[in-house]
Amino acid sequence: LPTQLIDRFGRKVTYVRMSITDRCDFRCVYCMDEEMTFMPRQQLLTLEEIVFLLRAFCELGVEKVRITGGEPLVRRDVDWLFNELGQLKSSTSLKELTLTTNGSKLEKYAQTLADSGLDRINISLDSLNEEKFKALTRTGDLDTVLAGIAAAKKANFKRIKLNAVIMKGRNEDEIIDLAQFAIDNDLDISYIEEMPLGHVSHAREESYCSSDEVLTTLNSAFDLQPSIETTGGPSRYYQVAGTTSKVGFISPHSHNFCDSCNRVRVTTEGRLLLCLGQEHSMDLREVIRQQPGDMQALKQAIVGSMDIKPKGHDFDIKAQPIIFRHMSVTGG
Ligand code: GTP
Ligand code: 5AD
Ligand code: SF4
Repeated sequence: LPTQLIDRFGRKVTYVRMSITDRCDFRCVYCMDEEMTFMPRQQLLTLEEIVFLLRAFCELGVEKVRITGGEPLVRRDVDWLFNELGQLKSSTSLKELTLTTNGSKLEKYAQTLADSGLDRINISLDSLNEEKFKALTRTGDLDTVLAGIAAAKKANFKRIKLNAVIMKGRNEDEIIDLAQFAIDNDLDISYIEEMPLGHVSHAREESYCSSDEVLTTLNSAFDLQPSIETTGGPSRYYQVAGTTSKVGFISPHSHNFCDSCNRVRVTTEGRLLLCLGQEHSMDLREVIRQQPGDMQALKQAIVGSMDIKPKGHDFDIKAQPIIFRHMSVTGG
């Protein structure tokens, strides 16, 4: 078996995004419908299966694992999972263990996770205004998230990044305030273009705000210097001159980044998804459950999947969504 994963287009896969639950305590308008039906628990990979699966990837050259959801920290025994994954860094090619979270449970978990070897953390923060935050997340509470961010800062992660999905009519008036908050707190921030995944209750075309518009707004308040730094994710970064903060742009619509794609994702039910915006996938849960403990068979399946990684997504914010799964199943 090869020791690295390379697809038909010569792209090396070194980054795995693993969604460990489709459940969430928030209902962000761009991500979920008001009423959601979640996956029955027996369909989810167990935590042991997740460790086994990620070990396989990390023995195939993967260097970065990001745990996503839903909200990963609502899953029971998630601290056990991080403890196991932290140990993969000493026995495999894994270099960086990362987490994307809505921040609601960070007060409880930040220090424990840092102690398990979690390196970096990305926290969603779409608004600094209590009412707007509530309107955007439906069930979220701003103060709890701010307390979570403070706890994360105290836990001394390598770097903390905020994520903000900018929507017209909802939070585009907070673009500068959010950057200022990041700067004041020595954090980075990425601005994200909304992606058409799953059915939601607003017209995405109307709320769409391009990264170029966000950049123009930021340029009016800050001195932004293009940065060559990368985290291996899709963000294009700018250094905010005179500060420790970077602002990033995730622009699947206006600046497609598929050519340099280095990642795959695994859904909550163990489906290996070769692209966020396509359905090409391989059922790894089936492999794990048919041949329990068979690491070779699992690796074989993962290596084989490289042949079906598509060239890129076909997101079109103006068209009806063609991907019916929500971001929470996919893990972003
Ligand atoms: P870093 O490791 O800090 O670079 O994180 P990241 O940006 O890779 O991950 P994060 O979970 O913070 O995701 C931020 C946004 O980027 C989310 O909206 C993801 O859905 C989106 N994203 C990540 N990878 C891809 C991708 O391959 N394609 C698209 N279209 N969006 C992606
Ligand atoms: N489009 C863009 N970003 C989204 N996120 C969730 N749903 C969407 C969407 N439809 C973001 C969250 C979080 C990250 C994992 O994905 O805000 O920061
Ligand atoms: Fe939950 Fe994250 Fe989706 Fe918001 S974006 S509903 S926090 S999974």
